[in-house]
Amino acid sequence: MKNGFTQRAQSTRRRKTTESDGWRPGWDIAGVVERAAQDGSGPPVGARVVGQSLAGWAELALLSKGFGAVVPDDVDLVEAATLPVAGLTARCALSKAAPLAGKTVLVAGASGGVGTFALQLARDAGAVVTASIRQPGQEALVRRLGADNVAVGASLAEAARFGPFDLVLESVGADSLAAALEMLAPGGLCVLLGASAGTTTTFDARKFRAGGTSLYGLVMSYEYGLEPPAVGLGDLCSRLAEGRLTPVIDRVASWRDIATVAQDLMDRRFTGKAVLRID
Ligand SMILES: NC(=O)c1ccc[n+]([C@@H]2O[C@H](COP(=O)([O-])OP(=O)(O)OC[C@H]3O[C@@H](n4cnc5c(N)ncnc54)[C@H](OP(=O)(O)O)[C@@H]3O)[C@@H](O)[C@H]2O)c1
Repeated sequence: MKNGFTQRAQSTRRRKTTESDGWRPGWDIAGVVERAAQDGSGPPVGARVVGQSLAGWAELALLSKGFGAVVPDDVDLVEAATLPVAGLTARCALSKAAPLAGKTVLVAGASGGVGTFALQLARDAGAVVTASIRQPGQEALVRRLGADNVAVGASLAEAARFGPFDLVLESVGADSLAAALEMLAPGGLCVLLGASAGTTTTFDARKFRAGGTSLYGLVMSYEYGLEPPAVGLGDLCSRLAEGRLTPVIDRVASWRDIATVAQDLMDRRFTGKAVLRID
């Protein structure tokens, strides 16, 4: 496909740590099909698509079978480009405790890419949603996206007064994961998707044993073996078209400005997504 837009926070992080020559970053892409799949299984030339690639920061990118979806006519490609990794991760993590109607859901790192999608999807599914953020200035944003309750502070434990929780989406790690495990309701589930603050956790086993509680390690490359990304991308695109999902986009810039945009992203000078135009 001819690539129009690409975004991904994690690629900038990985670029700082990778040592392999010739590695090209960029997972989330949206653009127009330049050459259709030879077996006719994919969308035709000219179709607008969004997908997940392994090397998307390029004028032309390969979209493997099952890794892309057609973008509805009334959905902006800029918005579609924000969906793949963050949107699919949020959708998949929430699905582990479906159906969510009436359930209490806590989202750690609620201001992040995954968090901002998770808040909206959980609220749309009828859950009572608590957002955990560390910057007070982000409260209005997470409330607008669907948070019923907001816990502000460096520790996830601040959210305890809104618990216990049927589902916790945990991505901060360290003490945050310990707090998540100790705030679960009977039968509750903690889905662990990251460990931004640290990978080692000490928790109180007695508090975790509320009864039937569990911890699920979420890795999207594993989940794609259970359901190809095309399914979730189709669903997320439909939600965009219906106005039930709104990506938080702070920057739309030329990919020639990647150095500035990536540095600002790494320094957390803005909260939402950065979308790069391939021009
Ligand atoms: N398992 C998978 O397959 C998978 C897939 C996608 C993402 N992930 C992981 O999921 C996590 C979230 O991804 P993302 O794309 O949403 O990242 P992101 O956009 O960078 O958001 C990170 C969120 O975590 C918060 N945060 C970061 N460090 C923190 C700390 N030390 N204490 C408290 N809060 C902290 C940030 O708060 P501020 O806004 O205040 O900075 C922000 O809300 C990452 O760890 C990522 O690696 C995993």
